Amino acid sequence: MTSPSDWVNPLRDDKDKRLPRIAGPAGMVIFGVTGDLARKKLLPAIYDLANRGLLPAGFTLVGYGRRQWDKEAFCDYVKQAVEAGARTPFRENVWMHLAQGFEFVSGDFDDKGFDALSARLKELDSSRSTGGNWAFYLSVPPDYFSDICHQIERVGMATPTDDSWRRVIIEKPFGHNQESARELNEIVNAVFPEDAVFRIDHYLGKETVQNIMALRFANQIYEPMWNAHYIDHVQITMAEDIGLGGRAGYYDGIGAARDVIQNHLIQLLALVAMEEPSSFRPSALQAEKIKVLQATTPVYPFSKTTARGQYAAGWQGSEYVKGLREEEGFDPNSTTETYAACTLEVNSRRWAGVPFYLRTGKRLGRRVTEIALVFKPAPHQPFDSNQAAALGANAVVIRVQPDEGVTLRFGSKVPGSTMEVRDVNMDFSYAQAFTEESPEAYERLILDALLDESSLFPTNEEVELSWAMLDPILEYWENNGQPESYAAGTWGPESADAMLSRTGRTWRRP
Ligand code: BG6
Repeated sequence: MTSPSDWVNPLRDDKDKRLPRIAGPAGMVIFGVTGDLARKKLLPAIYDLANRGLLPAGFTLVGYGRRQWDKEAFCDYVKQAVEAGARTPFRENVWMHLAQGFEFVSGDFDDKGFDALSARLKELDSSRSTGGNWAFYLSVPPDYFSDICHQIERVGMATPTDDSWRRVIIEKPFGHNQESARELNEIVNAVFPEDAVFRIDHYLGKETVQNIMALRFANQIYEPMWNAHYIDHVQITMAEDIGLGGRAGYYDGIGAARDVIQNHLIQLLALVAMEEPSSFRPSALQAEKIKVLQATTPVYPFSKTTARGQYAAGWQGSEYVKGLREEEGFDPNSTTETYAACTLEVNSRRWAGVPFYLRTGKRLGRRVTEIALVFKPAPHQPFDSNQAAALGANAVVIRVQPDEGVTLRFGSKVPGSTMEVRDVNMDFSYAQAFTEESPEAYERLILDALLDESSLFPTNEEVELSWAMLDPILEYWENNGQPESYAAGTWGPESADAMLSRTGRTWRRP
């Protein structure tokens, strides 16, 4: 018989590298360092990591780009980005120490530039003690992946020496359909083995998203009802109030489904629907996600189970805002969707017959991301229809952002002499329950990549499976009309409401 002290929790992995640990000697090269993402997210996150003492003493950051910058100009640029975007306070001593490890190499994606980069990294390995450990961050559109990977390979930067490592971190969009994703995977995997490839889906770095696993697998109360016997349907919503001004170059022709559903929302579905992994080692977690993604398919006919829209001018709160077609840089006849909704089903014993409704949109009523598991009605209702008129469906709602937390919605008696049952919410809020502030998604993901902790990075197979679900929907849309217009500040096109109402359901209005 085992005593409590002998018992080993199978879900506890003593090698979990996400414990607050300092990354070992390393450097990072960022391609696309002058782009929006680097300025707004990556550079502030690197400073925040340094401020939390999680980077090695000799951490070295190399910017690579066309500008003719010297070290000082690059430092000024990074400092502005940090001052504007860092989560933690600016501390001069931390900054001075970090900035000593900044370098900028000017160049194109040609031989000359990469020869210079490779020579510089060799110098830095000895002057900064980076130990030959380099992460290459591709914060550039996928059209450049091939040239960059080819050059990295040509100059030998992909090949680690004895005890060192080389990794590549890749930003989405990872292709525009399954075929192109496969081609990109082939390009990248020809140079870096899969275990050296870290594909970023920044939603997986969010605290609340990781809490899905804690909620499901650390507790007893949810598991018995987390299945088709009790759940009527699942709604996964990522709504944004911002428009697309300034993002035409990336977004026009891409649209909401490729931008958000293919990656963030399908990853959320995987975490909600997967079975318990045998450990939280990357391979075990990824295996469960792959299994559930393999079992997930879109629901036909798409004329009834999907919806798409494009925002027109309208009132966003007290501000009158432009429609997409008037936004700078967009084609005035653009047919790019800014709202997308679809119905997926997970063909497993746990989820048979439970629709998963995914929706995302720009210029909607407010910014909110949530996952709602909506319950079936009680099998018998002892209260008459007057008494229970204000009773809706029970729900567990994981509030991803803002106001991070979990809500349980159920019916309760309204105080008074009559019997009246109405919906109430029981809330857990991160802000109230904990004093620590959550790290930004990019802080966690950059640190994880330096620590070789790959659980929060989708594999090539996950990416390709997600495209396989979306491709038929995108193809249907391409051949059938145009996105329906919706006014900015509303909750999307009428067809999205019709998509649910024809099944007797309604979207939540968060
Ligand atoms: C990005 C999308 O991946 O996520 C953007 O490309 C979107 O269109 C952004 O605005 C939203 O991220 P967050 O973390 O603010 O919800």
